[in-house]
Amino acid sequence: MLEVRDLRKAFAGFVAVGGVSLTVETRQIAAVIGPNGAGKSTLFNLITGHIMPDGGRVLLDGRDITGAAPHRICRMGIGRSFQRTNIFARLSVFENVQAAFLAHRGRGANFWARSEDFYRDETAGLLASIGLDAHADAIAGTLSYGNQKQLELGIALASDPEVLLLDEPTAGMSATETRETMQLLRRIAGERGLTLLFTEHDMEVVFTIAAKIAVLHQGHLLAEGTPAEMRSDPEVRRVYLGEH
Ligand SMILES: Nc1ncnc2c1ncn2[C@@H]1O[C@H](COP(=O)(O)OP(=O)(O)OP(=O)(O)O)[C@@H](O)[C@H]1O
Ligand SMILES: [Mg+2]
Repeated sequence: MLEVRDLRKAFAGFVAVGGVSLTVETRQIAAVIGPNGAGKSTLFNLITGHIMPDGGRVLLDGRDITGAAPHRICRMGIGRSFQRTNIFARLSVFENVQAAFLAHRGRGANFWARSEDFYRDETAGLLASIGLDAHADAIAGTLSYGNQKQLELGIALASDPEVLLLDEPTAGMSATETRETMQLLRRIAGERGLTLLFTEHDMEVVFTIAAKIAVLHQGHLLAEGTPAEMRSDPEVRRVYLGEH
């Protein structure tokens, strides 16, 4: 479903991603792990068009999408969330998701209708499915950090993605919030048939839900395989797992 071939990016000579190749199968849940600065966020930004690669290819379902603008890549079916939340802090939870539906699906023929009348049912349905319905009227900026990350997931889902890239979806969450969020993600991915690629520092989370793990180290792919293979890989243990 998603294939990255020899992707590279340097910032002023510093190689952040130095020729990474990776595939994620349709409906697979895959994780990219690695120490701080390994290049995980940069890799995601290269895939979603937020950063232009210096070289290499990104293929979505066989189609070359390398270097396309972020909104076009989103339209082609790759949704994402960011390491730092990317919500409208002054809008309500409902309005944030509604705005995402509007941005993705447009106004159709109802050009003169008021924005607040669009996609109300879809918004309510999506909020219920991610367990945020009780907070629909809350101002997004006042939500707990965990709920803000959940909202960001809702915004990403409003673009109806086939592939979802999540950059540290549980960063800053308590252990309980983390567990709940990962269960939610697994359920949503199953229900919607999503292909999921995420980064995460919490190894318990990674080893519980990822079917495939890619280990990045200093911009290079150190190893990739099943959780069991990664656990027993001496190189991975040495440079990464040993630190935890
Ligand atoms: N815009 C930029 N300009 C210069 N250097 C950058 C830029 N973005 C990232 N880097 C550098 O590239 C390297 C990889 O950064 P990146 O954010 O991709 O790492 P990461 O694996 O996501 O780390 P973390 O786990 O801390 O989120 C780091 O050394 C970082 O300082
Ligand atoms: Mg990062």
